Amino acid sequence: MEPMLTTIGLTKNFGGLTAVNNVNFSIYPGDAQSIIGPNGAGKSTFFKLISGEIKPSRGKIMFNGKDITKLPQTKVSHRGIAVAYQITNIFPLLTVFENVRVAAQSRKTTFNFWSKAESHSEISDQALHILEEIGLIQFRHDIAANLSHGDQKRLEIGIALATKPELLLLDEPTAGLSPTETRQTIELIKNISEHLTIILVEHKMTVVMEVSDKITVLHYGSLLAQGSPEDIRNNEEVRRVYLGGVKM
Ligand SMILES: Nc1ncnc2c1ncn2[C@@H]1O[C@H](COP(=O)(O)OP(=O)(O)OP(=O)(O)O)[C@@H](O)[C@H]1O
Ligand SMILES: [Mg+2]
Repeated sequence: MEPMLTTIGLTKNFGGLTAVNNVNFSIYPGDAQSIIGPNGAGKSTFFKLISGEIKPSRGKIMFNGKDITKLPQTKVSHRGIAVAYQITNIFPLLTVFENVRVAAQSRKTTFNFWSKAESHSEISDQALHILEEIGLIQFRHDIAANLSHGDQKRLEIGIALATKPELLLLDEPTAGLSPTETRQTIELIKNISEHLTIILVEHKMTVVMEVSDKITVLHYGSLLAQGSPEDIRNNEEVRRVYLGGVKM
């Protein structure tokens, strides 16, 4: 099997700072991988490079066998990569349902001019299906701004899902969530990972250990270690630079 996504020598400099340094990374279809590392290690920058939000200083990004390094963000999204960051993609004054529906509707519209457009009811059905999956179906008529922080973070994931990605990048999906909300989000990620390939950036080690097939550790932009949750848990260097103060 070929990897779905590969980065080759991926590097990003911000002035004199190398935020991502020569990273070689691969993920295979169906896997759930996590990227961990201290604050400022380059995790979010790595996601921004993959999603086309920023361009690398050096290196290459391959997705499904094609070079996407130079594609703009909208084209990367059309190829099938979606990102859920904080709650930045939510339209606060639209309802929960409208938020997901708009995302589903905006998908690939510019490219599929000649193909049969999906009907309004098909798109609405997809939106409702996603609301079921993210556990927000009962809030579908509520204004998004009125949701709790945890529910807004799950709505952000729903908006990403509505673009029908093959690869979903999740940046700290449980940051700021209560233990109960964190548990809901872990279950959601496990569900999603049954039908999607996922890369997760997360500081909570309980979440990382529970959902990951494989873990990559970044440190000052460089790849420090890679392996199974068990390998990473037992890696002396990883414990020293990152896990020392973290409960596992
Ligand atoms: N647009 C930018 N301009 C200059 N420096 C930046 C920019 N974006 C990120 N950096 C720097 O690059 C480094 C990596 O940042 P990044 O946000 O990728 O880290 P991170 O691993 O996501 O950290 P955190 O765990 O705190 O989210 C940091 O030193 C950061 O200050
Ligand atoms: Mg970050």
